[in-house]
Amino acid sequence: MDSAAIKRAKDHFGKMLEDQVTRIERLAETPHWIDYSTLHPLRIGILAGDGIGPFIAAESKRVLEHVFERELNSGGIVIRDIGGLTIENRAARGKTIPDDVLAEIKKYHVTLKGPTYTPRKGDPWPNLESCNVAMRKELDLFANVRPVRIPSQGIDWTFFRENTEDLYALGPYGYQLGPDIAIDFRIISAPGTDRISRLAFDYAKKNGRTRVTCVTKANIIKTTDGLFLENFYRVAREYPEIQADDWYIDIMTAKLVDQKRRAEFQVLVLPNLYGDILTDEAAEFQGGVGTAGSANIGKESAMFEAIHGSAPRMVEEGRAQYADPSSMIRAASMLMGHVGYPDRARRLDMALDICGQYEKKIAINGRPTGASGREFTDYVMDWLNNPALEDTWKRYVG
Ligand code: IPM
Ligand code: MG
Repeated sequence: MDSAAIKRAKDHFGKMLEDQVTRIERLAETPHWIDYSTLHPLRIGILAGDGIGPFIAAESKRVLEHVFERELNSGGIVIRDIGGLTIENRAARGKTIPDDVLAEIKKYHVTLKGPTYTPRKGDPWPNLESCNVAMRKELDLFANVRPVRIPSQGIDWTFFRENTEDLYALGPYGYQLGPDIAIDFRIISAPGTDRISRLAFDYAKKNGRTRVTCVTKANIIKTTDGLFLENFYRVAREYPEIQADDWYIDIMTAKLVDQKRRAEFQVLVLPNLYGDILTDEAAEFQGGVGTAGSANIGKESAMFEAIHGSAPRMVEEGRAQYADPSSMIRAASMLMGHVGYPDRARRLDMALDICGQYEKKIAINGRPTGASGREFTDYVMDWLNNPALEDTWKRYVG
């Protein structure tokens, strides 16, 4: 390896480090939490995305409009579509989030986002950064909150996945040193770990949860996971009434399938990539990634999304209208809870549970032999309007 190549790699690393130091220094100055109850109107943007996105986004929007009918009529809430986040537009503009789209997004207090295709090496598209990841970084949506609940099995987990650091933060800035050597970088900061841990403990405290568990691989990834764990326990000391413990990611992955132990976990805090992986596994127990919602929370704004991808194959095969909108409707429910309507969110969750897990009068299987997304959404809305909703849900849950 010639020394000029090594020098270029060092320069690359140096620049990246400077950018990250700037980012982390800014964390200390981040503003206070926005108070949604003072906004008039509260502006909700819908980002349809691509693939099956526009299909499930339309259904989720229908649910939101139904639930917020009163506020929409009185002008207390505004719901609008934000276009331009399709892979075609992103590719044509050569930008993960084109500038005009980002400017538009920033006009909204919260957004509900459909899946967006993420290109990878070898695709016909330019190898753009993931839209989700870019939005999380641009809007500093540092907490990815993912609940997984299976009431009949006593499972009630809430994952707090750190959303702006770790391997994800530097995913587009890896370095290829000649044909044979590739390096990626991982970053964890104390302020970054502090704020995600604090949010998890605050959530536990507010919601009567008694245990918060941190997941790392600090015995092997000593520096970054070591810092994460150390700061998690530092925050934990401020919440003496809540039990704090930690597990390694490998055994935690195993414990989630251990029927005797898994219901004991309550609130989990993880660095970005472990959180990405573990939440897909967890969602699978609940009925698949199609059933789980995800909240990307920052102090000044928040974005709610389905946890799955854009399923371009379903569109190619003409099956997009059979895509399951549950995950995005679940995200809509999280949005409702976040902006100050927890009771309506709870009712929507109950309707989704009844339709997707218990009664299952009609079911979606992604094909014309099952229900369409629209039919399923009508089914959910029928339950929302049903006065017997809560009693029925309680009966099912037992
Ligand atoms: C998720 C998704 C995203 C991620 C992808 C689509 C970039 O898997 O939200 O979990 O990796 O974070
Ligand atoms: Mg994921």
